Amino acid sequence: MENYLGLLTGGGDCPGLNAVIRAVVRRAMQEKIPVMGIHAGWQGLIAGDIKPLTRYSVAGIQYKGGTILGTSRRNPLEEEEGLQKIRDNWKKYGLNSLIVAGGNGTLSGALRMWQTQGYPIVGVPKTIDNDIFGTDYTFGFDTAVTIATEAIDRLHTTAEAQHRVMVVEVMGRHTGWIATQAGIAGGADIILIPEKPFRISQICEMLLKRKEMGRNFSILVVAEDARPHPDEDYLTDEEKERIFKEERLGGIGAIVGRWIEERAHLSARVTVLGHIQRGGTPTAFDRVLATRLGVHAVEMVLRGEFGRMAGVRGMDMVSVPLEEVADKAKPVNAELYRVAEIFFG
Ligand code: F6P
Repeated sequence: MENYLGLLTGGGDCPGLNAVIRAVVRRAMQEKIPVMGIHAGWQGLIAGDIKPLTRYSVAGIQYKGGTILGTSRRNPLEEEEGLQKIRDNWKKYGLNSLIVAGGNGTLSGALRMWQTQGYPIVGVPKTIDNDIFGTDYTFGFDTAVTIATEAIDRLHTTAEAQHRVMVVEVMGRHTGWIATQAGIAGGADIILIPEKPFRISQICEMLLKRKEMGRNFSILVVAEDARPHPDEDYLTDEEKERIFKEERLGGIGAIVGRWIEERAHLSARVTVLGHIQRGGTPTAFDRVLATRLGVHAVEMVLRGEFGRMAGVRGMDMVSVPLEEVADKAKPVNAELYRVAEIFFG
């Protein structure tokens, strides 16, 4: 049985994953290393849903969103039975190393699979949220920011025509990267992020001041996990439970819109961008980053750099211990948010 390099994509899908898959296969081919594609994340390794990836099966996929391998949020460490099946399939399919492309959850799982089960794993960071430690950027983020910026541009014209406050809720889990970057690019008047709890009284004051200055419309970008400051936390327990569910965030935009109407007596409309931010074709930036990370991950495998993640710092590819990455989220850089704040109000 040949020694295969396994490849899986776990967690939520994200634009750029197919470019990683293509890059891994093409770089491995140069070394005559065959690659096995594991379907639906760890689930495929448990179920034995594993097939070889060839030059032809990955041809021309770099511009497609999603992942040709499929994905799932299955955690391999949850049941002993699953771990036994992974051991069996690892042998059966002739695997001798594994590249795991995933977000925070998947990479934390990868670390544990390396530490406690001894699987030689290299991680590739993927998420639209850009919240992974150890890398300046994750692919998918630029695509999500581009989509959110276009949405803000479109909302600007209708807001201006009808003198409204437009609230745009964007994704990002526990960090406000998408909100901040798209807010700056789209010229948002206020950006609410989880890193900076907000006070609704200040928001209303700012919006009314804009009105006084003759600015009859406003754009407010709110990250899905943005929360009110404890001083002015008017959310009910029921609302908190509904909005800040760990497995499904969303709904703070509607509440902020309602508070603006009630407290500032301004007409507000709410748009939730949702999964539109994650779908469709990746930007050129994301395709290039994903390709470089895929190539770099194979080179890390060749050097035996296991238990680590490929990343980018500045212009350079880096190799970071998964221990430094797992179980945390990289908050928005303070300088970036300070720049955004200059344009508030
Ligand atoms: O982590 C990526 C992400 O898109 C988050 O921004 C969002 O909170 C979450 O995944 C949505 O997950 P799901 O696709 O399971 O609804």
